[in-house]
Amino acid sequence: MKVIVFHSYKGGTGKTTLALNTAISFARKGYKTLAIDADLNAPTFESIFVGLNPKYRFNDLFEFELRKKNLNDNGKEKPQPKDLPINSLIEENLDLIFAESKPKFGFGLLSMDKNFHAGALKKLIETKSEFEKLGYDYLIMDTSPSLNLASINAIIIADATLIILRPNNYGIAGTTFLIKEIYSMLGTVKRKDYIVFNQVVPKTPTKLINQWQKHFKKRLDVETIGIVHCNCGVALNMLFGNLIIEQEENKEFSKVINKIVEKLNHDLL
Ligand SMILES: Nc1ncnc2c1ncn2[C@@H]1O[C@H](COP(=O)(O)OP(=O)(O)O)[C@@H](O)[C@H]1O
Ligand SMILES: [Mg+2]
Repeated sequence: MKVIVFHSYKGGTGKTTLALNTAISFARKGYKTLAIDADLNAPTFESIFVGLNPKYRFNDLFEFELRKKNLNDNGKEKPQPKDLPINSLIEENLDLIFAESKPKFGFGLLSMDKNFHAGALKKLIETKSEFEKLGYDYLIMDTSPSLNLASINAIIIADATLIILRPNNYGIAGTTFLIKEIYSMLGTVKRKDYIVFNQVVPKTPTKLINQWQKHFKKRLDVETIGIVHCNCGVALNMLFGNLIIEQEENKEFSKVINKIVEKLNHDLL
């Protein structure tokens, strides 16, 4: 099983859109895929996949004891990793794990407590191996933006990280800072990192796009895996919970997702 983490410096860059469409594309190619909403600050799977009502969420795995003690949340049995995935109902090969819809700020996975996160990392590593036993080929994680301990833990277990950005001045500067910080903390050992430029304004000169790509390649040795233009059809589809986008006007988006999936398949397996 390969773990692919979608991360970004800022929110709103398109992490969830790209993570879910990539997951669907893997599933359609016949790979057993599990997508986890690990963006605890702003969980979104729930509003995209309406009506699935999972018994357990990603947080439950890490916060069970804390919740029991601090929130008197005694209603549930202690969950095991295998209890979390639910089928997406849109693709047989795609399972999902939701995040708590009203997370408590500063609590559990949203806390800054390094001891808690050291324990959570151990649990995450065990969880990864349980998911591997369940037969998943790909585990896709949609994280909280910026540097936070829960997202760093996800990057630690990743085989690949896709860093999504909107190419403007602060997007490029912020992402450069983020990657440098990740490298100084974790290095690049065993992990492949890629850039995705998303919401690129149509008709942006190719020369400029090449410059951005060169910047990340030369400064940080990070390759670009996808360039996605801003496309209102994509936004509209996401709004109505329609993921992979196959209408004529969204062909370019589907093509880029396909290329990303083929490259990941080639580089990781
Ligand atoms: N290529 C794109 N073109 C147009 N809108 C996009 C594109 N990618 C994402 N969006 C829209 O941008 C918003 C933020 O995307 P989202 O995936 O939720 O970002 P994040 O998960 O990084 O916060 C959503 O409304 C989404 O539909
Ligand atoms: Mg998101």
